[in-house]
Amino acid sequence: MKQTCDTLLLTIPSPCFVLEEARLEQNLAIFERVQREAPVRVLLALKGFALFHSFPLIRKTLQGASASSLWEAQLVAEKFGGELHVYSPAYRDEDMPLILQNASHLTFNSVSQWERFRPLVSSTSASQPSVGLRINPQYSPVETMLYNPCQPFTRLGISPEHLGNKLPEGVDGFLSHNLCESDSYALEKTLVHIEQFFGHFLPHLKWLNLGGGHLMTRKGYDVGHAINVLKEFHERYPHIELILEPGSAIVWETGFLLSTVQDIIPTSDVMNVMLDVSFTAHMPDCLEMPYKPAIRGAHEPQEGETKYRMGGSSCLAGDFLGDYGFSSNLSIGDRIIFEDMMHYTMVKSSMFNGVVHPSIGVVRKDGTFEMWRQFSYEDYRSRLG
Ligand SMILES: Cc1ncc(COP(=O)(O)O)c(C=O)c1O
Repeated sequence: MKQTCDTLLLTIPSPCFVLEEARLEQNLAIFERVQREAPVRVLLALKGFALFHSFPLIRKTLQGASASSLWEAQLVAEKFGGELHVYSPAYRDEDMPLILQNASHLTFNSVSQWERFRPLVSSTSASQPSVGLRINPQYSPVETMLYNPCQPFTRLGISPEHLGNKLPEGVDGFLSHNLCESDSYALEKTLVHIEQFFGHFLPHLKWLNLGGGHLMTRKGYDVGHAINVLKEFHERYPHIELILEPGSAIVWETGFLLSTVQDIIPTSDVMNVMLDVSFTAHMPDCLEMPYKPAIRGAHEPQEGETKYRMGGSSCLAGDFLGDYGFSSNLSIGDRIIFEDMMHYTMVKSSMFNGVVHPSIGVVRKDGTFEMWRQFSYEDYRSRLG
């Protein structure tokens, strides 16, 4: 055991996603400050993180959550409570009655979807949700097209020329989601664009949801600047309730994926480390973004140093990432810890290849480990029939 000498880690069965409760509390403290000092409500975006065992803790700070589908909406209603903001790129007829039972806010991606569901929304016997439209603010700093909702010919959000001059009847608010792992200056620029392209609607709105992508918990994020930007907007439009719905930022750097070396296959240039986790099945953003995740205790390999390439447990040829250097040679049985693996992992993971799905657990504030979920062959089989 060379990479981690922490005795607690040795007691956790591999592979396992591990939430670190104390770190989550640190992140929530930042959002507590934001909500205290700026006129804004913060929601948890379930698409980024839906580990419901942690909801009681998150709920102490956040008043609600946002869902992008019926199932996420059901999970919010069942496990989170509070406000439920639902937005889906395209609602299905069969889903809408159940969504209407729980949504406090319901946002449509197009005017045609709003027109189609308007009779149903208006006749709902449950308390009627406040209706919004997703707009395309004509600005996104995101360079990776996979994550840029404002790319040319985008299917997400209504462009100013398609909305015209009059707010469709029954609409209370706008949702603008155009950021990803962005700073407070991107938030500021977003508001400039919204005022420039949608300014004539602002006097008529009740709320403006500025989506996710606000990475307020990343070191170096200027929280004070974001607070000032939100306060200044509120001074210009005091009748508009401001909302943010981050996913990543809530659980940024609050946990890891623990894995174990199963085999090491040398080549002339690199050592292929065969793990019991898969990039494509368990950490898909690493391949899709792509990015190279940090490994605890590893560094960029130096000239002449052994290069270790982390290989996933699936048969996909490209299921690997690297290269990494370690201060001492790796061996079978060593534990490899991928840092910052809480957002967009468990919500996106698959059972491709039938590879073992990592368990899910938590390290409590008192330093004890608690297992929340373990997966079995039956879980794999039940998804298929
Ligand atoms: C509409 C919407 N809101 C919120 C989010 C959460 O974004 P993030 O996890 O980057 O904060 C997303 C992410 O795709 C989104 O599409």
